Amino acid sequence: MKDMQISGAKTNNKNLLKWIETIAHLSKPDSIHLCDGSQEEYDDLCNQMVESGTFIRLNEQKRPNSFLCLSDPKDVARMESRTFVCPTNKSDAGPTNNWMHPDEMKEKLHALFDGCMRGRPMYVIPFSMGPLGSPIAHIGIEITDSPYVVVNMRIMTRMGQAALDVLGDKGTFVRCLHSVGAPLEPNQKDVPWPCDPENTYISHFPEERSIYSFGSGYGGNALLGKKCFALRIASVMARDEGWLAEHMLIVGVESPEGEKTYVTGAFPSACGKTNFAMLVPPKGFEGWKITTVGDDIAWIKPGPDGTLRAINPEAGFFGVAPGTSMDSNPNAMLSLTKNCIFTNVALTDDGDVWWEGMTDEPPAHLIDWTGQDWTPDCGRPAAHPNARFTAPIAQCPSFDPAWDDPEGVPVDAFIFGGRMSRNVPLVFQAFNWAHGVYLAATMGSEATAAAEDALPPMRRDPMAMLPFCGYNMAAYWNHWLNMGRLLSNHPRIFRVNWFRKDEKGKFLWPGFGENMRVLKWIVDRVRGRSHGVESPLGYMPRHKDIHWEGLDYDPEIFYEIMAIDRDESVTEARSHEELFDKFFDRLPKEFIHHRELFKSRLWRSPEVWELARPDF
Ligand code: GTP
Ligand code: SPV
Ligand code: MN
Repeated sequence: MKDMQISGAKTNNKNLLKWIETIAHLSKPDSIHLCDGSQEEYDDLCNQMVESGTFIRLNEQKRPNSFLCLSDPKDVARMESRTFVCPTNKSDAGPTNNWMHPDEMKEKLHALFDGCMRGRPMYVIPFSMGPLGSPIAHIGIEITDSPYVVVNMRIMTRMGQAALDVLGDKGTFVRCLHSVGAPLEPNQKDVPWPCDPENTYISHFPEERSIYSFGSGYGGNALLGKKCFALRIASVMARDEGWLAEHMLIVGVESPEGEKTYVTGAFPSACGKTNFAMLVPPKGFEGWKITTVGDDIAWIKPGPDGTLRAINPEAGFFGVAPGTSMDSNPNAMLSLTKNCIFTNVALTDDGDVWWEGMTDEPPAHLIDWTGQDWTPDCGRPAAHPNARFTAPIAQCPSFDPAWDDPEGVPVDAFIFGGRMSRNVPLVFQAFNWAHGVYLAATMGSEATAAAEDALPPMRRDPMAMLPFCGYNMAAYWNHWLNMGRLLSNHPRIFRVNWFRKDEKGKFLWPGFGENMRVLKWIVDRVRGRSHGVESPLGYMPRHKDIHWEGLDYDPEIFYEIMAIDRDESVTEARSHEELFDKFFDRLPKEFIHHRELFKSRLWRSPEVWELARPDF
């Protein structure tokens, strides 16, 4: 394309210009726009989408500068079955990733991308994952034919001219190519949410650090800075360069005395990262403050002083809407008052949004996420279970002043937690680094309402990274073990479980803000201030080690959610073996030893271990 005209921002980066030309030549768009990230550009795109019917502008009084978008019902979540990791050797993708040989996948993609942007503009989005110019940050370029992706990326990343400036003339970037896969014939009318679910491929080429995503416009499939770059590709970069790219929230815990401790938390999708990241300290914690650095992804690099420094590579929240309310997460609700995009929630008669759990009483009438009339008795949910909001972090009342600090924040603890209704106690601490890596690697989680029904009732989700690790999971465990060896004073590792239930299916732990009580014990452990008793699983708090002021909680229930059932735990240890068998040759030897140590501790333990009892 000799006559390539590019509107918008300017760049002299030869590699970028060449790549734009190559992709334009292949996908044959009508025009090319290099995004400058300005408010004007954002407003123009939003207005265009309102006109085309993709966006509904919400009531200016109730929700200024905010929009609702309803997706195609076939394109509503990440598609794990269509997600591929394509290194040359299958064993480098490992048994937990879909794999195809890169040559074969490229051939397929080449055919799909040929002419796929006909009739549409092509947008080139320069973005920084992480604070601009931070030594922990990296630059990506996403090429897409979706204006929805452009405006979401402007909230989710540092996007536009500023990222181009950091890139400079010679800088390198991760190539992120995306198309909704719906070319338009001349005079063909567009649909509000173009996509091609039958031909969807979300493909990663870790050896060349590139991503090709075709056919889906939704979330992690299309906002390629997020899971594709910041986790799958970045985890490979992190392995090669000696750092960590993790599915973790980052929070600051500030005591009344002003002591600040940063911890990260890895929980599987829809298991409470956003809630924990914006936790409101409960009664009995006057003077304590929780601050939000990130709610989904952490990039963590060893700092010059031997500590680990974490940044949130993102600049926005792409959070689960259903269940979010002023009760469950006021900081999230207050982040959503303006400048937001809502996807697949319901529309109220006065032009605002609603979703299940937002209010006790549902409105009498809504337009649901499928665009149909909805009444409380119609038997369908008003919002899709995976409906999401896109909101700038800077709008969150609890945002940490350091969320944009290029140096990152020091990490003192790693918390790992799945959704387990039985057997896994509320909290325990690893005996040492290798044991902690073992505990994180063997974490399990039960399927959520938001997940695809194809998921098994419980699946192992190592480090909450099962769908996001860009290489062989066993090599990833080895990398974690090596990281511990690199650090002079590594963070402490903890497991938590907010989701234990009684026989009737009722949660035994109040959760949400009350999780502060567990967090305080964790901070005190890190600071060497609180007790922990050795159990078969790890160090555990006794009842008197937890701060209970302001909560009337029956100690008997606490003993119950801290108890370890020997037979169930032996079954658990055996099922770790099943998990490990899949990785035979690459499994860290340390894991075999830690499993045997776990079994021998159980061997010595009573039928039900109740260390939380006061006489301990
Ligand atoms: P992704 O954005 O998908 O990575 O997930 P996330 O971990 O940020 O999920 P999110 O915070 O949106 O999880 C929401 C779900 O967790 C809802 O079903 C909440 O009710 C539930 N949840 C969050 N915290 C707690 C808690 O402390 N106790 C209980 N029982 N449920 C909780
Ligand atoms: C998750 O599924 O863990 C998410 C949402 O955070 S998405 O970005 O769509 O992957
Ligand atoms: Mn996530």
